[in-house]
Amino acid sequence: MAMATPSPHGELLARHRAVLPSWLSLYYDEPIELVSGEGRYGVDGEGKRYLDFFARIFTTSAGHNVPEVVDAIKEQAGRLLHSSTLYLIRPMVELAERIARLSTIPEAKVFFVNSGTEAVESALMLSCIARASNQVLAVRHSYHGRSFATMSVTGNRMWSASSLSPLNVSYVQSGYRLRSPFGPLDDKELTESCVRDLREVIETTTAGDVACMIAEPIQGVGGFVVPPDGFFGAMKEVLDEYGILFISDEVQTGWGRTGEHFWGFEAHDLVPDLATFAKGLGNGLAIGGIVGRGDLIDSVNANSISTFGGNPLAASGALANLDYLLSHDLQGNALTVGRYLLQELNDRVAHFGVVAEVRGKGLMIGVELVEPGTLVGSPAAAKQVLETCRDQGLLIGLGGLYGNVLRIAPPMSVTIGEATDALEILTDALMSVERLAT
Ligand SMILES: Cc1ncc(COP(=O)(O)O)c(C=O)c1O
Repeated sequence: MAMATPSPHGELLARHRAVLPSWLSLYYDEPIELVSGEGRYGVDGEGKRYLDFFARIFTTSAGHNVPEVVDAIKEQAGRLLHSSTLYLIRPMVELAERIARLSTIPEAKVFFVNSGTEAVESALMLSCIARASNQVLAVRHSYHGRSFATMSVTGNRMWSASSLSPLNVSYVQSGYRLRSPFGPLDDKELTESCVRDLREVIETTTAGDVACMIAEPIQGVGGFVVPPDGFFGAMKEVLDEYGILFISDEVQTGWGRTGEHFWGFEAHDLVPDLATFAKGLGNGLAIGGIVGRGDLIDSVNANSISTFGGNPLAASGALANLDYLLSHDLQGNALTVGRYLLQELNDRVAHFGVVAEVRGKGLMIGVELVEPGTLVGSPAAAKQVLETCRDQGLLIGLGGLYGNVLRIAPPMSVTIGEATDALEILTDALMSVERLAT
């Protein structure tokens, strides 16, 4: 009998599985290749069109194939791809000037790398050098990357493959209410309790001379956990008493995605010592970095380079993308469309038995799924919604401690019309898991 010819995706999947790591997880029972995109839409290798509400992990901030960004990349690629940090790089200097100004950090300096992991790694290294300590505070449910140091400040078992670490880490509360003993408290009491807990963690689990605390203003991989406004500002008051530095991980929350602010930390009434960034800056180009107090950034006491960090191609594309985000007020758009999505999801699905919580800010919206009548996370329901949405032409993401949180995070240029189309698909998909579960 003749063997059936595999589909283009099936054939690529077999090749992928043969030569790439088993832990490089793919979405969907039948994974897809995305081959082109336009605005908020993407097309796969078999010609199916999708509305993209995960923005390739929040990286496509302006949208797919934005002419202003693509033209800048083409123009730079036609002249010079690379020169290394041994030579002056005009677009890198310009980008650093822009980010330093935007950061609100006084006399800020910037260091560019190639990913969020590398950015967090650099911020941790700088803090540890500056404070001559390897003790670090991190937040439960956090995600900061896949290297040894970043994994060790990741408070999520699903993403922490090893306890080997260059750091000594103590974990503090995140302000995530759902399963927390502090959950029933109002915002003020929750913040005060977590701040008291922070002080106790410093006093009881560290040697006192802690280098830094790292936190995401809104936890991304954790499932869009939004602590009360001012939460980390209140924590920072305690950190300041001990001289502990504060690193704001803005890899997901930067560039206006939270709608209310340009940086996530601004909701917390604080100015960080260091902030890390990546993802949305390059609209898909590999660029990340840190911005922070100049004296801290200058505190490395040996030579250090980044061969590709701030390279002409990535820096030119990022400059064009930043121009686009700012000149089109995509932060304002994230606020408007984000509020619409949040309100509609609350109205349409928050009362479902499988939905424990609809939460978020700006274009970071999470729907946490559980077994009805319990707080037991339901990754199976989340996976089914993901699959159904994909069948219906909508890409969304997953997150949360148990992989049971739907994550909705379209490019920041998304329109109300596109949000309405996505809501229809998502509501229907949730309705079908609700019917099965109740
Ligand atoms: C908050 C945060 N920090 C760091 C990282 C690591 O970034 P990258 O995957 O670019 O290494 C991520 C990635 O999702 C992230 O969400």
